[in-house]
Amino acid sequence: MEGAIERVFVAGAGLMGHGIAQVHAAIGRTVTLYEPDLERAEGGRDRIAANLERSVSKGRLTREEADTTLARIEPTADLGRAADADLVIEAIFATNTSSIAIHRLAEAVDEARRPRFVGMHFFSPVPVMPLIELIRGRDTSDATIEAIRTLASDLGKHVIVSGDKPGFIVNRILMPFLAESMRAYEQGIGTAEDIDAGARIGLNHPMGPLELADFIGLDVCLGIMRVLDDGIGGERFRAPRVLEELVAAGNLGQKTGQGFYTYPRTAQASGG
Ligand code: CAA
Repeated sequence: MEGAIERVFVAGAGLMGHGIAQVHAAIGRTVTLYEPDLERAEGGRDRIAANLERSVSKGRLTREEADTTLARIEPTADLGRAADADLVIEAIFATNTSSIAIHRLAEAVDEARRPRFVGMHFFSPVPVMPLIELIRGRDTSDATIEAIRTLASDLGKHVIVSGDKPGFIVNRILMPFLAESMRAYEQGIGTAEDIDAGARIGLNHPMGPLELADFIGLDVCLGIMRVLDDGIGGERFRAPRVLEELVAAGNLGQKTGQGFYTYPRTAQASGG
């Protein structure tokens, strides 16, 4: 990973992966966007095309810039293409890079490669959120950290560096807040709308905690809370019952059309 990062391989073309692919292509990197199923990889590129289209219609990008960015992204179902890349980004949701210890994930690679294993955690929507959380694993080298810092700066993102502990910095802070909001909801302290309005209007958050949880994905939130609960423990990280129930019912938030709210956004969901 030392040296210039020009070719990027993104594993996963979902909510995070497509955004990660987009921001790298936008700064001139060649991107291979991988899903085991080619249709899903192409679906990721279609989402990027739609994002770029929106930017063109807002006059933020020229048609030519949008086309050039899109042309840098190649969807693939061939994992072997990772071998060509300078940087392999695994855009996997909750059960992986957003919370699991980097040194444990690094054990999956050959010992000689572990100095080049690092956490690079993006936030959704990736093209909009200006933060990257860098996580140094037990064996991560300074050169690797510096290479990622340079790339993050090229991407126009602010970097924070986190210790290799469950949930890192942001999810360590965020998840107890989301969990407590869900507990307030399940105890009937307020409606979903009022709890969210409390944070939006009273605290100036761009989204309330329940709508944010729906946006992140309730399965993703549950996965992160379990990692925090297992690794740190304590009431504040425990997954609320309402969250367990929604996930068990397959109601995962925006992506399934049902979570704390129904999408397209209409009324408050039952549950709790
Ligand atoms: N992709 C690309 N661009 C998007 C987008 C998307 N999915 N969604 C919104 N945008 C862009 C819009 O095009 C718009 O751009 P312009 O300024 O150029 O017009 C801009 O973002 C604002 O969008 P909207 O006006 O449509 O909507 P908004 O003002 O309500 O903002 C939001 C939407 C940016 C998502 C805002 O609600 C927000 O910041 N929410 C909080 C998001 C957050 O907390 N993310 C972190 C989640 S935690 C995580 O990701 C990590 C983890 O491990 C769980």
